[in-house]
Amino acid sequence: MNDVAIALNGVSKCFQRYEQPADRLKDLLLPGRSRSNPFWALRDISLEVPRGQTLGIIGRNGSGKSTLLQIIVGTLMPSQGAVRTNGRISALLELGSGFDPEFTGRQNIFFNGQMLGLSRAELEERFDEIAAFADIGEFLERPVKTYSSGMFVRLAFAVAIHTQPDILVVDEALSVGDEAFQRKCYARIHAIRDGGGTILFVSHGASTVVELCDRAVLLDGGEMLLDGNPKLVVDKYQKLIYAPPGRVEELRGEIRRLNGAEPAMFSHKELTIVESMASEPMQPVMARTPWVKGGPKLTPSFDPDLKPPTMTTYASRGAQLAEPQITTLKGKPVNCLIGREEYLYTYTVRFEREVSQVRFGMLIKTISGLELGGASLEGRRLGIDRVPAGTVAKVKFRFKCLLNPDAYFLNAGVSGTVDGVFGYLDRWIDAAMFKVQAEEFTWASGMVDLMVDPDATFYDGVADGLVIEQGTSSLETR
Ligand SMILES: Nc1ncnc2c1ncn2[C@@H]1O[C@H](COP(=O)(O)OP(=O)(O)OP(=O)(O)O)[C@@H](O)[C@H]1O
Ligand SMILES: [Mg+2]
Repeated sequence: MNDVAIALNGVSKCFQRYEQPADRLKDLLLPGRSRSNPFWALRDISLEVPRGQTLGIIGRNGSGKSTLLQIIVGTLMPSQGAVRTNGRISALLELGSGFDPEFTGRQNIFFNGQMLGLSRAELEERFDEIAAFADIGEFLERPVKTYSSGMFVRLAFAVAIHTQPDILVVDEALSVGDEAFQRKCYARIHAIRDGGGTILFVSHGASTVVELCDRAVLLDGGEMLLDGNPKLVVDKYQKLIYAPPGRVEELRGEIRRLNGAEPAMFSHKELTIVESMASEPMQPVMARTPWVKGGPKLTPSFDPDLKPPTMTTYASRGAQLAEPQITTLKGKPVNCLIGREEYLYTYTVRFEREVSQVRFGMLIKTISGLELGGASLEGRRLGIDRVPAGTVAKVKFRFKCLLNPDAYFLNAGVSGTVDGVFGYLDRWIDAAMFKVQAEEFTWASGMVDLMVDPDATFYDGVADGLVIEQGTSSLETR
């Protein structure tokens, strides 16, 4: 059990549901047959989560995700089966649980923190840190019932992560905060994960599950339909939610059969080439009006409030990094960028020691910490291998912002050899952040703008070429 953080064995949960609210009262007062209907929110779930794993739980509304988390956390008892957990659990469940709406934020930090297993003294010691993380200003002294859902999540998350949990359980809450706060939360989740913590994460955000989780399970009508790698599980989940009603049952069967037999990430078997339908090339029937890009022209701008809340600097060793910023090519500082335009990411490095094998680096990441792309520049390539003490370098990375609207974060780092040891000399995580502004119209989707140029030609009758149908199980080529 030592390497297992959570073990569920045949867990089921049955709720009693009443058609009429009055029936519940009648059941209490009048003897005889119950007026309730049993409803199985979870059926026979067996799951073992090794210590240190990040597990994503996905499924449509009402599939049993929150019920499962509550059983793991211990706020609900299973009707059947056994649950074992190993370590201190901290949970961020659905809004409202574990907080008293009449208490102020300050009082709730103590109330909720004690529920999560911290002593009053421990909470007093961490109070300032928790309050700073929540960052809700004077609302800290007001009753929680007056909070917006965003403020509430800030407070709840702040308490949850400051209990230093072995197991962190997060139910869909992060989507409520703004980007800066989300980044802060993800950074803490990564830190808990890197420290060997176990994380259970419920999310409807498919990309977040793929980025963050080592493993995912798909719940469907209380059943654990699939347990596997996040990419596979998310794909099947999306197939299931978009399946035509007549196909759902069959699809469930297909998904169940995937358990255990982990297929390759990309399976050719999913494509069936049905038929090449046309022998003669066909003539387009509709003339197309060229599409003209409309809407006001966007300009890059600077928002002073847009600062990475998670900036982390490491102790430097022989060189100091400073002033990381993004500018236009003309040198104007900006942080609200326009997609497809070029910018500079710059910082200065002051060398306090003589350094050889100098190297400068940068990296762009998403809110959840996915590393999108970066570069490193070796001094040697510029003909400079050894830098005397007292030198200042202005480092510039010119890049094209091929990213779709969202918020992004940048790292900066300088490495080299000092005293015969090669390594980081100074390193800033989340040194800068920027947003990519949304254009009125774009056909790009996803995170990275691959400058896709979509087109379609319309014909009378059947389409020419190949018809590709997804989701069947054999590969035929012609
Ligand atoms: N206390 C309860 N009494 C009766 N039924 C309940 C109770 N709690 C949950 N249920 C039912 O159990 C099922 C699973 O609920 P649950 O909240 O676990 O779903 P979920 O997957 O978290 O959904 P969502 O994505 O909407 O958060 C739902 O049909 C819900 O109506
Ligand atoms: Mg839920």
